[in-house]
Amino acid sequence: MKEFITTSLETHLFFGRIMKEHALFLQAAFPAGETEYRNKANWFREEFEKILRQTVRLADGMVGEDVLRSGEVFTEFTVMAEQQTGRLTKIPIDFRITQAEKKLRAGCAKYADKRMVWQIRQLNRHVLRLLSGLIMFKKQILREVTSCRLYTANYPLLIEHIIREAELYRQIITMLEEKTCMSSENIVETELFWNQIMMEHALFIRGLLDPTECELVETADTFAEDYFRLLEEAKRQDCKTMNGLTKRTLETTKRYRDFKAAGTKGITGCDIRSIILPLLADHVLREANHYLRILKQEGE
Ligand SMILES: [Fe+2]
Ligand SMILES: [Fe+2]
Repeated sequence: MKEFITTSLETHLFFGRIMKEHALFLQAAFPAGETEYRNKANWFREEFEKILRQTVRLADGMVGEDVLRSGEVFTEFTVMAEQQTGRLTKIPIDFRITQAEKKLRAGCAKYADKRMVWQIRQLNRHVLRLLSGLIMFKKQILREVTSCRLYTANYPLLIEHIIREAELYRQIITMLEEKTCMSSENIVETELFWNQIMMEHALFIRGLLDPTECELVETADTFAEDYFRLLEEAKRQDCKTMNGLTKRTLETTKRYRDFKAAGTKGITGCDIRSIILPLLADHVLREANHYLRILKQEGE
């Protein structure tokens, strides 16, 4: 039960925020006249904001120190990125949630009473319902965009990418609810999943940077190639040789996290020319931090 509570809350802390930000990126990228799409994206954004708020309320003293410190829940840039993105998009962002997250204390679920388990169960079920709706909405957007009936400033690949992230979130919560464990097979799959995510981030970054930012474009391209190679090798190799590959993935991802952190600093500091929202920069940084924590856990 303790494991169930802690893992549920840790998952919502990371993914709940990710979903609310996906909804914001969707909302911000539609033309002003697409009121139905914008309103629907806004609705999901608000619903996942409520999920995150509720999670933070429940998580104090109930989640791991490693998660809180990993930089996947918030980074040193998150509040600043939220304030700037709110100003730029005119979409309100409640950065008090982030401030509350900074005050969260780690701990094991000492007070894991029946009421708490019931509350988490309700939260998980509510999230699963919301996720089904959000995944359907993202798929509808992808269909309309790829058949040229709808315009968005988001790449089709970005929409595919955020569908996959939402599906992973749903898969994790479903497993928690059905009490099935992560098998070792899943670890290889997890690595394939996140290596692709990391590669695509590099492709998005290179495509959203101003064309004059040659050096950054080049570095992003190199990271995309690195992850492409890691993916190719992982597909060819079996489990026995996976360890060496995990080590290289970990090294690449550490360097990549530093690149993303420098990028987020540059974008929030207005030192980089691009069409990247500050919160998108921070978002992909948090996803790298999340992946790093998983990789380090595997190495233990
Ligand atoms: Fe994401
Ligand atoms: Fe992502």
